[in-house]
Amino acid sequence: MSTVYLNGSYLPEDEACVPVLDRGFIFGDGVYEVIPAYGGHLFRLAQHLQRLDNSLAGIRLANPMNHDEWATVLREIVHLNCDDQQDLSVYLQVTRGVAKRDHAFPDQVQQTVFVMATPMGAVPEVQLENGIAAITHEDIRWRYCHIKSIALLPNTLMRQVARESGAAEAILYRDGQVTEGAASNVFIVENGKLLTPQKDECLLPGITRDLILEIALDAGLNCSETDIGVEQLINADEIWITSSTKEILPVTQLDGKPVGNGKPGPAWRDMLDRYQQHKNKLREGLAH
Ligand code: PDD
Repeated sequence: MSTVYLNGSYLPEDEACVPVLDRGFIFGDGVYEVIPAYGGHLFRLAQHLQRLDNSLAGIRLANPMNHDEWATVLREIVHLNCDDQQDLSVYLQVTRGVAKRDHAFPDQVQQTVFVMATPMGAVPEVQLENGIAAITHEDIRWRYCHIKSIALLPNTLMRQVARESGAAEAILYRDGQVTEGAASNVFIVENGKLLTPQKDECLLPGITRDLILEIALDAGLNCSETDIGVEQLINADEIWITSSTKEILPVTQLDGKPVGNGKPGPAWRDMLDRYQQHKNKLREGLAH
């Protein structure tokens, strides 16, 4: 039984309860983060906490804890759930608390704060060998996709369409431009250049995305944050999706057609190697 954190207490998961009038339950009124922990070390903690600040500001909800307090709770949850230095995915959620149902904010807010950790297995070998299939899908979400909102119904609907098409992810476009995946960011490789959409309100500023750009810059790779049209996506030499839990996955089939030569590409292999080196340093406490 895993141990979770709820509003100041550490307790077994099956004893953690939230009242039915919680605005997270009633309105999806809250934000979240997913932070990997490798060998007990939280990945890019400062960046995740900064994004949490931004998401909370985006929904006009005060952060119930400062970064040091968050770090203490998150490290304790990792410590309480970490057997044999197993890799974990740490999920945290803050909602606007419990109040009589009314769309406008309640006057007095006591945020609900929840944290859990689940074991995070390695990315399946078959996905690394063969890549994954993806579909394209119109981005049906709202206009504040930079906020990591718990209201994920459009994302779940689009991911389900992908699954029912035998694909692992939906790559989204708005007004003909690629935004991101249903639960990932998107990169393409075109004529040896690595491209990803620039950060704006149309996509979540992924922590994995930013690290990949950092690694690319350090390695002197040719990369740029720019618009990517759907035609460009279809004709790309390589497509990758990135997220904290999936790391970097090559998309080798798009809408049933091969991407490039239909195999994971050399640029992806090179970046995955560099990413794994970064993770290994993190495990030893030599990176963040
Ligand atoms: N989702 N875009 C969306 C819409 C996402 O949901 C995610 C990650 C990302 C990638 O962000 P990051 O690299 O910081 O994980 C981009 C998480 C993993 C989830 O909802 O489970």
